[in-house]
Amino acid sequence: MWQQLHNPLETSFTLTQPVTLVDSLSVKWQAPSNIALVKYWGKHGMQLPANPSISLTLNECKTITSVNVIRGKHGFTVSYGGEEKPEFAPKIEAYFKRIAPYCPWIEQYHFTIDTHNTFPHSSGIASSASSMAALSACMMELESLLTGSEVNMQKASFLARLGSGSACRSLEGKAVVWGTHEGTAGSNDLTGVDQTAILHAVFQDYQDTILLVDKGVKTVSSTVGHGLMDGHAFAKARFSQAHSNLTNLKDALAAGDLETFIKITESEALTLHAMMMTSHPYFILMKPHTLSIIEEIWAFRKETGVPVCFTLDAGANVHMLYPQEYVEQVESLIVNKLVQYCENSHYICDSVGNGAHKC
Ligand code: PMV
Repeated sequence: MWQQLHNPLETSFTLTQPVTLVDSLSVKWQAPSNIALVKYWGKHGMQLPANPSISLTLNECKTITSVNVIRGKHGFTVSYGGEEKPEFAPKIEAYFKRIAPYCPWIEQYHFTIDTHNTFPHSSGIASSASSMAALSACMMELESLLTGSEVNMQKASFLARLGSGSACRSLEGKAVVWGTHEGTAGSNDLTGVDQTAILHAVFQDYQDTILLVDKGVKTVSSTVGHGLMDGHAFAKARFSQAHSNLTNLKDALAAGDLETFIKITESEALTLHAMMMTSHPYFILMKPHTLSIIEEIWAFRKETGVPVCFTLDAGANVHMLYPQEYVEQVESLIVNKLVQYCENSHYICDSVGNGAHKC
């Protein structure tokens, strides 16, 4: 706690500029989802990661959020595509409570929030990263309009983390590190740090095709899963492994070393799920079709030499990662072999994107 309160970076997010309150304002932002390569799994304090992580930012899977504010008693309504969604309220309420010390002006406004995702709502793709990132970018544009300062994207990342940890990696950059890591300048536990500059050309437009194996709601939430890393028998080794994997993966991302990229990325995905399987209580989020797809990807890679690999988030869906030049070969693998494992034959073609944008 002492460290937290006296962290100079955190203090820098406390509003010091004077605010000129106006009667009403409207802003609109979009923010993408991201896919972790080195996984964040385990947290402490106020959404602080147990280990550093790195993700690729997506381009097509995103949330578009508009926020209208009217001066008056603090409160909010939230809708999805124009339809009121009271079930979203508890998460937004908790978010407002957490960000209030850093954005005290929110107490003076009523918020009307409308949001929608470009990916199907029940696709098994978590929308918490893109939605918290889009909402936080909106908050920072409002703050910039009220203070006359620039939109502070680092503070947007800080606020997004308070909503959902991995959301802090969805604001700025094609690849983002979150969490203090020895080999990453500026890395910290409070915000994401843009790593675009280190990326070799092959990763600048890397492809991510998401095979939708199970569109249902997960049986165990990420929040519960993170909690189960407390006292986990392998926690210490896992957290230190994440540091070395991040060091080696960053070297591979810089060198365009696909072999090392594949080794670390796939190992990280399986380690994440191994942590789940060895938690108490233990659980499995992969489905039989997840494993069938992994086997097909390994066989295809062996047979053709095409450097396609997989990663998984906390669910059954499979992200296939590969260089842009192999789009056609991977597409034929999907159509011929993999689509049978997808629920209703659904998959989403995405690629690396740049982060949040004002609409
Ligand atoms: O941000 P959360 O609390 O939804 O956790 C995300 C956890 C993983 O997606 C499994 C890993 C990651 O680093 O994104």
